[in-house]
Amino acid sequence: MTFTVSQLNGSKPEQYAQLVEQARALLAGERDRIANAANLSALVYHALPSLNWVGFYFYDGNELVVGPFQGLPACVRIPLDKGVCGAAARTRETQRVADVHAFPGHIACDSASRSELVVPLVHDGELVGVFDLDSPEPDRFDIDDQHGLEAIARAFVESLA
Ligand code: SME
Repeated sequence: MTFTVSQLNGSKPEQYAQLVEQARALLAGERDRIANAANLSALVYHALPSLNWVGFYFYDGNELVVGPFQGLPACVRIPLDKGVCGAAARTRETQRVADVHAFPGHIACDSASRSELVVPLVHDGELVGVFDLDSPEPDRFDIDDQHGLEAIARAFVESLA
């Protein structure tokens, strides 16, 4: 199978609708979470501008452990009381951070990161992990990005069912 990262067109919500469609096509018929997380990281990293890290951390029952990603090597383990990722996992609410330097406890894996969006992944009430995106631009993520990336995270969780 050849998969092309297609050009996104229209308004931002329209572009995300196209990206979610591409994500669903990419995950269709596959339940393996490593495979799906790897392909989704690659899709999102190449489809969206101004990102330096896109990937997954999985919850091992105690802390978050790095999974498939695109970007520079990252911190391997994140306790739930640490970082933006830990906050998303603990609260089960998306963390949209305009300035990571102003976020108490932010973990700098890549010093280029200036803003960050972390979406919790919850399947049947159980914490699976988080979907994490970093940008070298301050305030890179707006509410359209949040909604679009939450829809992509939902497509990932649904692929595990
Ligand atoms: N900045 C994250 C750590 C993970 S890296 O961004 C890949 C945090 O504060 O949780």
